[in-house]
Amino acid sequence: MKLNKIVFPVAGLGSRFLPATKATPKEMLPILDKPLIQYAVEEAIDAGFTEFIFVNAKSKISIKEHFDNNLNLDISNLTKEKKELLNQTNQILPNNVSCSYIIQDEPLGLGHAILLAKSVIKQDPFAVILADDLIDSQKGVLKQMVEEYKDNSSSIVSVQKIDKSNSIHYGMVSIREDNLKSMQLNNIIEKPLPEDSPSNLGVVGRYIFCNKILDFLEDTSFGTGNEIQLTDAIKSMLSSYPVFAYEFEGVRYDCGDKLGFIKANIEYALKSSIFGDELKEYLKTRLIR
Ligand code: G1P
Repeated sequence: MKLNKIVFPVAGLGSRFLPATKATPKEMLPILDKPLIQYAVEEAIDAGFTEFIFVNAKSKISIKEHFDNNLNLDISNLTKEKKELLNQTNQILPNNVSCSYIIQDEPLGLGHAILLAKSVIKQDPFAVILADDLIDSQKGVLKQMVEEYKDNSSSIVSVQKIDKSNSIHYGMVSIREDNLKSMQLNNIIEKPLPEDSPSNLGVVGRYIFCNKILDFLEDTSFGTGNEIQLTDAIKSMLSSYPVFAYEFEGVRYDCGDKLGFIKANIEYALKSSIFGDELKEYLKTRLIR
């Protein structure tokens, strides 16, 4: 069974970013000139995924509209440059990519969102990407993980070392000590207190799953935050199917958080060939005061 399906859970309330996210999905917030969801979609395309499953809230139609290529605009009066720009942005998805949209109409959590995608995932392995975890890397993190992925009965979660005092924001994992090199998980806990955290390795929003995770999700009851937690299903799966941690190469920005979002915008803008230098000069003047 081929790994070509990927789930984009995009129905979250974006409560950390209110009021900006009252009518605009957090995944549509821009880093420089592209919405977060487009970075996630481009990472998935680059990793070879071709079946995209968006688990969306009913109100978040702008995400679907962003990837539709039917600009209902009369562009006949526009300048040549503007027409070119619109034509370029009109088709984001290559022709070999297909999209399904599933509605999650209750905010019951990440695990619930993934379970809703079951009718499209069917018996296949699949990946999951959380668009608000933006990762700046030479090689996309999903691509790095696909290269690590070995067989249909194992799963991989991406991790990074974090300051343990921040463990309440992450799924925290620990690694089996008998085979540290393979980074096989022996525990995972959703958002533990620092003193209960099994290590300093926190999960970041990239996953590859064997299909069995769906069975475990079906048996998962409400956990942290009164939501169906993906982390709890992974934990149940550990004794039957191997799950590996993958420490990715790249810098991750938590763009669901205001400060993380601002940092990402500054870093991406500093790299811009058009105004990166000018921004650097501006920031210097602000810092010297
Ligand atoms: C989710 C997961 C958590 C993971 C995090 C990464 O939490 O539940 O295990 O560490 O994403 O961003 P959320 O940030 O959606 O609350």
